[in-house]
Amino acid sequence: MSKIFDVIVIGAGPGGYIAAIRAAQLGFNVACIDEWKNDKGGPAPGGTCTNVGCIPSKALLQSSEHFDHAGHQFAEHGIGLSNLKIDVAKMVGRKDSVVKQNNDGILYLFKKNKVSFFHGRGAFVNAADGLYEVSVTGAVKESLTAKHVVVATGSSARALPGAAFDEERILSNDGALRIAAVPKTLGVIGSGVIGLEMGSVWRRLGAEVTILEALPNFLGAADEGVAKEALKAFTKQGLRFEFGAKISEVKTGKKSVTVAYANAKGEALTLEVERLIVSIGRVANTVGLNPEAVGLQLDERGAITVDADCKTNLPNVWAVGDAVRGPMLAHKAEEEGVAVAERIAGQHGHVDFNLVPWVIYTSPEIAWVGRTEQQLKAEGVAYKAGQFPFLANGRARALGDTTGFVKFLADAKTDEILGVHIVGPMASELVAEAVVAMAFKASAEDIARICHAHPSLSEATKEAALAVDKRTLNF
Ligand code: FAD
Ligand code: NAI
Repeated sequence: MSKIFDVIVIGAGPGGYIAAIRAAQLGFNVACIDEWKNDKGGPAPGGTCTNVGCIPSKALLQSSEHFDHAGHQFAEHGIGLSNLKIDVAKMVGRKDSVVKQNNDGILYLFKKNKVSFFHGRGAFVNAADGLYEVSVTGAVKESLTAKHVVVATGSSARALPGAAFDEERILSNDGALRIAAVPKTLGVIGSGVIGLEMGSVWRRLGAEVTILEALPNFLGAADEGVAKEALKAFTKQGLRFEFGAKISEVKTGKKSVTVAYANAKGEALTLEVERLIVSIGRVANTVGLNPEAVGLQLDERGAITVDADCKTNLPNVWAVGDAVRGPMLAHKAEEEGVAVAERIAGQHGHVDFNLVPWVIYTSPEIAWVGRTEQQLKAEGVAYKAGQFPFLANGRARALGDTTGFVKFLADAKTDEILGVHIVGPMASELVAEAVVAMAFKASAEDIARICHAHPSLSEATKEAALAVDKRTLNF
């Protein structure tokens, strides 16, 4: 007998579990299905983000940053250390316990909100009389039926052709987060977000890291000024970049991996490393979902086709997060999950894609919201720019972290903020003020006139807003 629900959510990553909770808050009887297993075979809801993405990567970034500070910055504070060591097993164990706290937290939230959780793989079976049947294959097999289905099946790492992930030598994000000992040499394919974050972790712990990037330039999605400043900082830290690299072959040996590639000049080169992280983007998960059973449409890249409201080609079937178009970010998935639950309830859930912030958790951190200077130029928008360096910020000096700047871009006529770009300490937190300001259509002058605590990094934000009108006070 099929169990009847109002809403079935397939996937319990940030898109799915948040959609399930919001739908339950709105009074629906909700089932959420997720197949992720922990090391004991039990449920591990939270998806890529919790298990092998946002959370574990930030845990390792934190541990490795402490190690880096202890080795390179403590001395200037008068703190002496001898015999500094890293216990990788302990560091990875701590990361695993942070992940588990988050898995358990989601199970608790499901209980609290009366979401019925099913551990196993969800697959469409059929559609009849306005209802969808979804099977769950796990320890036991179940059949669930509902009028509404939200697909939130997420994404998986894209492999290089001919170089499948073995998670031993050729690593996806999964293997990159559980390397057992610091490799002497680490190769990274792709200088995107994962390459930079994971490359930073293992570089800080002592690996010699080389990043091969196909494109001729660095971080094309970021503001050019920010990308330039960040590249300078990363290179100084010891990350080695090769842009315009064309990879021809990856060969795995017993103790190393060899990558054959041509550099930007067309010279044939090889890179031999102990481990290789391949971070060249991700592909939507639909394997095992059985979309054909109900005629759910996928696009040419295998993602689920949706409109701006996350509606698929099927009535009452919705899709959110990494499985659909748009940036592959946890907070974008969450916002879509909330909006879909509200639309199912007949409300007007809304996601403003222009106000989705980006953060790269390197050191310096990189964060932005809105349009870049190069985008505004390409669109022919008349704008004013204002920039303030952390070097002139008292809190940054006290922290000993003065790399980078905050940059404001505002409409030349109306002064409305069009983009804010930050490279520097705690950029991930500072960007929130910019998102709020832009959501309320603030002008640069609005931010410049607000009292910011002293001494704080946020004063750099205020000063960058003042810089738009060429009247910084501390620079
Ligand atoms: P997912 O999190 O991928 O969850 C999908 C879930 O559905 C998974 O649990 C999967 O097992 C399950 N599933 C799939 N198919 C089925 C099926 N048929 N039946 C049952 N279950 C199924 N984003 C940020 O915003 N900030 C960050 O700092 C950040 N760091 C990242 C670091 C790394 C290393 C990686 C890889 C990603 C990072 N991301 C980050 C991206 C973020 O993880 C994703 O954007 C986010 O997880 C997408 O959420 P989702 O719910 O769409 O999918
Ligand atoms: P990415 O899209 O950020 O970067 C991939 C890079 O690989 C690009 O620079 C691309 O030009 C390059 N590339 C592609 N094919 C290549 C090839 N054959 N050889 C060499 N280089 C090649 O993808 P990444 O780093 O895999 O991350 C996937 C997604 O996960 C990100 O786009 C982001 O959405 C999400 N993520 C977000 C984080 C955050 O918000 N802090 C952290 C980590 C991941």
